[in-house]
Amino acid sequence: MPDSSTISAAASGQFAIGNLAINRLGFGAMRVTGPGIWGPPGDKAEALATLRRLPEIAVNFIDTADSYGPDVSEELISEALYPYKGLLIATKAGLIREGPDIWTPNGRPDYLFERAKGSLKKLRVERIDLWQLHRIDPKVPRDEQFGAVKTLLDEGIIAHAGLSEVSVEDIKAARKIFPVATVQNRYNLVDRGSEDVLDYCEREGIGFIPWYPLAAGGLARPGSILDRLASKYGATPSQMALAWVLKRSPVMLPIPGTSKVKHLEENVAAASIEIDEEDFAALDEAAREPGS
Ligand SMILES: NC(=O)c1ccc[n+]([C@@H]2O[C@H](COP(=O)([O-])OP(=O)(O)OC[C@H]3O[C@@H](n4cnc5c(N)ncnc54)[C@H](OP(=O)(O)O)[C@@H]3O)[C@@H](O)[C@H]2O)c1
Repeated sequence: MPDSSTISAAASGQFAIGNLAINRLGFGAMRVTGPGIWGPPGDKAEALATLRRLPEIAVNFIDTADSYGPDVSEELISEALYPYKGLLIATKAGLIREGPDIWTPNGRPDYLFERAKGSLKKLRVERIDLWQLHRIDPKVPRDEQFGAVKTLLDEGIIAHAGLSEVSVEDIKAARKIFPVATVQNRYNLVDRGSEDVLDYCEREGIGFIPWYPLAAGGLARPGSILDRLASKYGATPSQMALAWVLKRSPVMLPIPGTSKVKHLEENVAAASIEIDEEDFAALDEAAREPGS
């Protein structure tokens, strides 16, 4: 791992969301909350230190949501980083919280407006750089939810809009109503269920934000090809898994999350790992094998 003074997310390359340029390796701020993504973090000082370390190592893309805590993650980001010079803060709404690990979709337009305006207050901004519909609520007509996103854009409450956990067909339907800047779906080396969505985003120049990007499943076990290649590159298996995800596509914007400075530095150091084509293909093949 490089010396902590040389770690930089700039090594991951850049991507533009509208006119806002970011380094591709971002940060997911879901983990700076309590167990079950509920309430305050166990160690608030460490969570604040983790957030404050971000700009020092050139992480300038931070993902959060109104529902993380709820409110805790947005409030901590504001406490640690306001006025966010040079940072793009992305948030979301569309999931109600009633307790630890309980997430219930709510895509009623009134609720989305109220929550987006609440995010403005918590983040202390006049406009949200990137706001994502956290889930399409199956109980509300999809186009009503997309219409609410368009209203948020038209009213200048949000500058850019994205979707989360969607199919290619959902994205195409949304694009008839508002410009989709980003899509956030679960994706990692061993969980490739959104490969078609990623390919579509790459073709269309839409940012693809993979959540849970550090996972390596069974490939994390000692003696696996991932483990062997990690030794070859002087990395950990999760750093290799993240470097693989970054190399997979130029529109890939991973947001690994942690509540600890040391883990953050480890994750951002993965931006400097350059996997060669042969090793990239070997990992791809191994990850597609059943049981990996
Ligand atoms: N759109 C959605 O529906 C959705 C759903 C889930 C998440 N997300 C977003 O995606 C982000 C990432 O997802 P995620 O948090 O599920 O997955 P992740 O970033 O792949 O993994 C985070 C977990 O790994 C641990 N970790 C992180 N770095 C580590 C390291 N270097 N060594 C050891 N452990 C490490 C963290 O614990 P420690 O705190 O102990 O490091 C945490 O438990 C979230 O923060 C959130 O912004 C979006």
